[in-house]
Amino acid sequence: MPKLGVRQLSLAGKRVFLRADLNVPLADGAVADDTRIRAMLPTLRHCLEAGAAVVLASHLGRPKGRPDPQYSLAPVATRLGELLGLDVPLAPDCVGAVTEARVEAMKPGEVVLLENLRFHPEEEANDAEFARALARLADGYVDDAFAAAHRANASIDAITRYLQPAAAGLLMEGELAALGRILEHPERPLVAILGGAKVSDKLGLVENLLGRVDAIAIGGAMAFTFLRALGHDPGRSRIEPNLVESARRTLAEGRRRGVRVLLPVDVVVAAGVDSPSGRVVGVRDIPSDSMGLDIGPVTVQQFGELVRSARTVVWNGPLGVFEKPAFAAGTIGVARAVAELQGFSVVGGGDTIAAVHRAGLTDRIGYISTAGGAFLEFLEGRKLPGVEALTDA
Ligand code: 3PG
Repeated sequence: MPKLGVRQLSLAGKRVFLRADLNVPLADGAVADDTRIRAMLPTLRHCLEAGAAVVLASHLGRPKGRPDPQYSLAPVATRLGELLGLDVPLAPDCVGAVTEARVEAMKPGEVVLLENLRFHPEEEANDAEFARALARLADGYVDDAFAAAHRANASIDAITRYLQPAAAGLLMEGELAALGRILEHPERPLVAILGGAKVSDKLGLVENLLGRVDAIAIGGAMAFTFLRALGHDPGRSRIEPNLVESARRTLAEGRRRGVRVLLPVDVVVAAGVDSPSGRVVGVRDIPSDSMGLDIGPVTVQQFGELVRSARTVVWNGPLGVFEKPAFAAGTIGVARAVAELQGFSVVGGGDTIAAVHRAGLTDRIGYISTAGGAFLEFLEGRKLPGVEALTDA
């Protein structure tokens, strides 16, 4: 069901509660990566230009329900102010009399950032009273926090019971359109590339994708649990023994559905992640004292061919320990293939985006999602509370 969008709201003279995901990495008290801040700027600018005053709210990190200066949104207010060319004051708290007075004094075209919502345990508890206190700050609600849409938190879910209508911001709309294109009407062949460390994080995703994609290529440490399921000895590679049986069932399900599931045929092995270099071996020949840390060149070629045969590609998870130059070639090689795709590509997840960025290919990807967990849950076919709570168009 399509959702009401921010462009359908009349915003002139209104005070809008804008929930964004400004959960960005910090280093030395400053924003280390402002991608998520830039991504919500179009929605913020739209509201301000339409004559609204914007009460901007977000979580940052996991501060355990109490104020903690290392999780203050102060560095975000500074960076946002620079990007916007406007003063962005930070309210000392997200609720309470001082904040209420502060927002009541706002004029159209002004923005105030509320301090970290997660300084109150009620945010993650989806608490009704807390949601009401947030709702009192504004007379309109816009949610642009797709990256947090898998969290049924007070500022995402409960607040929409007190502040109606609940409209999607432009970033939320863009994410839903791009990811929806993968699940609902992809141009075929549709290929998924999955990597990352843990099968446990991705099994639900693989299972849902088997019913939708034409092929799946699996790399990263998670591939070793699947290789184990095929009877290979992965040496000291990271595997999840309790999931070997599930991996076996998944491979059988792939065969039953006629979905090609590609696993590595060669890997780069070394004694450990800190080894200065590795060597390429076939997956049948992994030495018992070594661990696989990247996919090998033949696998890169096979995954690349699969990508070239596709019209739509979705990619989540690095294919090796790409942070280390000795084990980056697989991820970079696949990133190049995705960048050259004559079709539509979607990439999601912080590590995968960092890898694409490091390869200098960011501008050549069809759509880069700002989300990690929400991206996976959406593609798993799960309903996201932050999307469900929005008003139907
Ligand atoms: C994310 O970075 O995935 C979102 O901001 C959600 O953060 P959380 O996993 O701490 O809820």
